[in-house]
Amino acid sequence: MELYDVMRTAFSAREYTDEPVSDELLYRILDNARFASSGGKRQGWRVIVVKEIESKEKIAEYAVPCAKKYAAQRLAGENPLNTIDPSSVDEETIQNTPPSSKLKMTYVDAPVVLIVCVDLSVVASMDSELRRVGVVSGASIYPFVWNIMLGAKNEGLGGRITTIPIAEETKLQKHFRIPGHFAVSAIMTIGKPVKQLTKLSRKPVSEFTTMEYFDGKKL
Ligand SMILES: Cc1cc2nc3c(=O)[nH]c(=O)nc-3n(C[C@H](O)[C@H](O)[C@H](O)COP(=O)(O)O)c2cc1C
Repeated sequence: MELYDVMRTAFSAREYTDEPVSDELLYRILDNARFASSGGKRQGWRVIVVKEIESKEKIAEYAVPCAKKYAAQRLAGENPLNTIDPSSVDEETIQNTPPSSKLKMTYVDAPVVLIVCVDLSVVASMDSELRRVGVVSGASIYPFVWNIMLGAKNEGLGGRITTIPIAEETKLQKHFRIPGHFAVSAIMTIGKPVKQLTKLSRKPVSEFTTMEYFDGKKL
């Protein structure tokens, strides 16, 4: 595929056929994804390929608490889980809100689930002492994650980045024997999508780009 076509059509695949994804194909995707940039070229990524049903079910189970919170905040008209605006949703409401009905199938029905971790002992986190949530360490792993998405698309497959189960990172670390200094960064599903979407909707450039200053002229 032509690069801009891949970039414009790498959608979040939500439903997959039963077609298995071979280890050879996964290897090829990862063998290309590994050329992603990372701070200091530290390449702190680590990938766990999950195909066993019991493990996929565990991931789906760990996703439930955060998925309920996400759904409850969304129903309240909030931007779920943001770190700026305090939530008005109480614990009882969260407990009474069901998670998305498709939550379990997200993981269980996907031919492959990739757990992508990053080694925090090699990543420079320049913003760790700022009084806001850290984002810079993510910059050393998400280019790699996105390369996997692009590679999957290029192979006629589809992928989806998920993060909801990471709220239960300690449980993921225990189940998958991940050392404590590895942060779980993404839980990706990969497979042959039932349908390849070709038209994604996104904000236009003029909505997010200004010249010279944040409040400058729109590009
Ligand atoms: C950092 C990140 C976290 C995400 N987490 C989740 C998630 O936990 N569950 C989920 O269903 N989708 C998740 N997504 C997928 C987005 O919701 C999806 O990319 C967005 O809705 C756009 O969909 P489209 O690419 O098909 O247009 C995540 C995407 C990113 C980049």
